[in-house]
Amino acid sequence: MTTFRAYRIFKQDDSSAGRFTDLSLDELDPGEVVIRVHYSGVNYKDTLAATGAGKVIRRFPCVGGVDASGIVESSFDARFQPGDKVLVTGYEMGVAHDGGFAEFVRVPADWVVPLPLNLSLFEAMALGTAGFTAALAIHRLEQNELTPDKGKVIVTGATGGVSSIAIQMLSQLGYQVVAMTGKDSEHEYLKSLGASEILPRKSVELTSARPLERAQWAGALDSVGGDTLSWLTRSMLQNGAIASYGNAGGLELHTNVFPFILRGVKLLGVDSAATQMPLRKQMWQRLADDPSTGLRTGLKPRNFDLFAHTVPFSGLEAVFPEMLKGETRGRAVVQIAGD
Ligand SMILES: NC(=O)c1ccc[n+]([C@@H]2O[C@H](COP(=O)([O-])OP(=O)(O)OC[C@H]3O[C@@H](n4cnc5c(N)ncnc54)[C@H](OP(=O)(O)O)[C@@H]3O)[C@@H](O)[C@H]2O)c1
Repeated sequence: MTTFRAYRIFKQDDSSAGRFTDLSLDELDPGEVVIRVHYSGVNYKDTLAATGAGKVIRRFPCVGGVDASGIVESSFDARFQPGDKVLVTGYEMGVAHDGGFAEFVRVPADWVVPLPLNLSLFEAMALGTAGFTAALAIHRLEQNELTPDKGKVIVTGATGGVSSIAIQMLSQLGYQVVAMTGKDSEHEYLKSLGASEILPRKSVELTSARPLERAQWAGALDSVGGDTLSWLTRSMLQNGAIASYGNAGGLELHTNVFPFILRGVKLLGVDSAATQMPLRKQMWQRLADDPSTGLRTGLKPRNFDLFAHTVPFSGLEAVFPEMLKGETRGRAVVQIAGD
């Protein structure tokens, strides 16, 4: 192999833009492990990076793609051997280190997770950073005493990648899930994932001046931020907990202290990219454990086809503008080589 295909993002005036190029292994960022990439996936962060809509790239040029699954091609680290099935998500991938939108990726061995048994390379990327973040959010809420008997759990930005997966996982764990969405056409989709109620975004008065709203939610998973997160803080039940991981609707958070001092509301941050390896491996094991086989804490979704669809590598760029407009549904898995 002399060269291979990669989707590389270049600085362009004050912004950035991606395009397909041919690269050699020598041109990739250094690392002990070279992986032949089979699948990647499109995350909101990938879209911000590739289009320049968000200033997330910290080093130009950079191969995009925060996620990759594939097979070890070569390794200078004893933990990995050629032929091992592995996955990598987050860290600096796709923003400051050449990422997974390429036929090969070269990464530090400390970033590499052995593919858990019972998860295929395709399933690993149908989950990707999105599924990993959903698992971390659920883990954070559980650590803060959320259980299905406490009441309803609301998931915002419901048709998005992280949220679609979270809805299916939560419903499998026995939670009553309320899906908040801006898409009138996707209510049946959300019910098929396991949502018991749909809350259309336009039916909610997000920006009321009331310091507290009617208390409704025992737990919340938020992809949206901004006014939505502000409204969530004001509408949680006593001791309710919110996992905040997204900003699809805004960066700012305007609220007041009453939710915290009168209702004991907990606002929990989730940062998937920097998650340390022990917790990372624990979460990937939960993502591979199938709850239908009696593994009580298992999070493996029962039906990947519901939320994941495959796009060819050559079709990658078509996903970005749709995602930027909030018009995508679930996960686009990018097929780079065969399974
Ligand atoms: N903290 C972390 O570690 C971490 C990890 C992964 C992702 N994230 C963040 O989590 C968010 C979701 O990521 P994703 O990959 O799931 O993205 P995604 O697939 O694009 O989902 C975002 C969803 O948010 C809703 N939405 C979009 N624009 C909106 C707007 N202006 N106002 C309100 N809702 C809007 C849409 O759902 P509906 O139409 O159904 O409402 C959309 O499908 C992003 O902000 C991403 O950066 C963070």
